[in-house]
Amino acid sequence: MNKLLGAIGLAGGILGLNFLTTVQAADPKPEEVVAYRQSVYTVIGWNFKPIGAMVKGEMPFDAAAVARHAQYVEMMSKAAPEGFRKGSGPDVVKKTEAKPEIWTKWSEFETKMNDFQQESTKLAEVAKTGDEKAIKAQFGKTAETCKACHKEFRTD
Ligand code: HEC
Repeated sequence: MNKLLGAIGLAGGILGLNFLTTVQAADPKPEEVVAYRQSVYTVIGWNFKPIGAMVKGEMPFDAAAVARHAQYVEMMSKAAPEGFRKGSGPDVVKKTEAKPEIWTKWSEFETKMNDFQQESTKLAEVAKTGDEKAIKAQFGKTAETCKACHKEFRTD
């Protein structure tokens, strides 16, 4: 009997612990959400800039570096949506450039996010070929998706 109770207690403990950690992971503070998305975009900007400098001839073209940077941009484009949980807008957190329209025009925002993900996936593919001309063209298309979203959903 004691053994049985012990086993039940242990199982409950494990379940309880799981429950707690799940809740914690699923429920970050609004400030943490903002810090996450700003970090993601910092990494995006960090990797996107040198590609731009190279295709504009401001920096020597380095195919391997372009391929690496483009992979990070693609990866981060997929990490970005999580940074826009409800309740992390400017009404809750002061230090954010995210506009409230993100959450009131969510499907439009999602479309812009999808465009960005698609174009940066293509950029990563083209970057692997090392074809400078094609990379330049695809860089331009990707940059358009950044601008399109910032114009509507980021305060300047
Ligand atoms: C779907 C919308 C969207 C797309 C696409 C997008 N951004 Fe942004 N970006 C934002 C929003 C919103 C913010 C403001 C985040 C905040 O302050 O909470 C931001 C912030 C930034 C920041 C500032 C980060 C900081 O330090 O706070 C940089 C840099 C940036 N974006 C670069 C880019 C680049 C480069 C691209 C394209 C390769 C891009 N973004 C694509 C919406 C977008």
